[in-house]
Amino acid sequence: MKKAYVHGYDQRENIRLQDQASTLVELLHADTKYPAGSRVLEAGCGVGAQTTTLARNSPQALITSVDISETSLAEARRKAMAAGLTNVQFEQADIFNLPYGPDSFDHIFVCFVLEHLARPVEALHQLKSHLKQGGTITVIEGDHGSAYFHPDSEAARQAIQCQVELQRRAGGNAMVGRELYPLLRKAGFDSIHVSPRMVYVDSSRPELVEGFTKKTFTAMIEGVRQSATEAGMVEPDVFEKGIRDLYQTAGADGVFCYTFFKAVARRSPVAVTTGS
Ligand SMILES: C[S@@+](CC[C@H](N)C(=O)[O-])C[C@H]1O[C@@H](n2cnc3c(N)ncnc32)[C@H](O)[C@@H]1O
Repeated sequence: MKKAYVHGYDQRENIRLQDQASTLVELLHADTKYPAGSRVLEAGCGVGAQTTTLARNSPQALITSVDISETSLAEARRKAMAAGLTNVQFEQADIFNLPYGPDSFDHIFVCFVLEHLARPVEALHQLKSHLKQGGTITVIEGDHGSAYFHPDSEAARQAIQCQVELQRRAGGNAMVGRELYPLLRKAGFDSIHVSPRMVYVDSSRPELVEGFTKKTFTAMIEGVRQSATEAGMVEPDVFEKGIRDLYQTAGADGVFCYTFFKAVARRSPVAVTTGS
């Protein structure tokens, strides 16, 4: 049975993913640029929240963006057309059953997808088989265990834990960021380099207060209100206090910290063996 995608596919979630992408562009993407003529696979592109940045940073690369959800792809196509992107094509495909041959891509880009997969090593392994020898994979993930804030709040931590637990029950892992190195190693990648990217937000950075603390992180936790309370994970009033307290961290004296992890790894070139 297919597991539910914990964030859902509704319009509110689309807007949240878009807010998240535009807030974090510099922090997460500034160092991802692919050479002219290279073939790039964006696996799990969703509504295309990262696709515009990816395509604009590498205007001469040929990007194939795939997702399992046709609904999300329709939105991604619309957005790419509105942005005038000419170097991206969208296709519906499952990471575990990609319709491409071996060695089809020079580079692969995966953002906020492994957190939803029950078999992330297998997914990375599948992706590796479509990568040319010497090609790279870039993986970006968050880690909800890295969220800490002021004023601290037990209720806010409980609300966050509901999201972590719901994602776990759906087969995913909301704390996958810290595991990128071992996952890529198990999948057989070489030259793995992980760089933690911390978002630090206080009221001197109003664009991050709005774009990250409120519209990305707190909006995501608010999004599980119904599922968490229906599952009896938390008393409704505790959840509501948790959300109020998260909004307080976006106040004049509030502080919010969260760490993303970005990994780049290589499919090793096969050593050429010479006969005796
Ligand atoms: C949180 S969204 C991230 C989307 C986009 N990468 C971003 O950063 O905004 C995760 C996406 O992975 C897609 N996905 C999950 N499992 C997949 C699979 N097996 N094959 C392809 N896409 C998948 C979901 O449909 C969803 O659009």
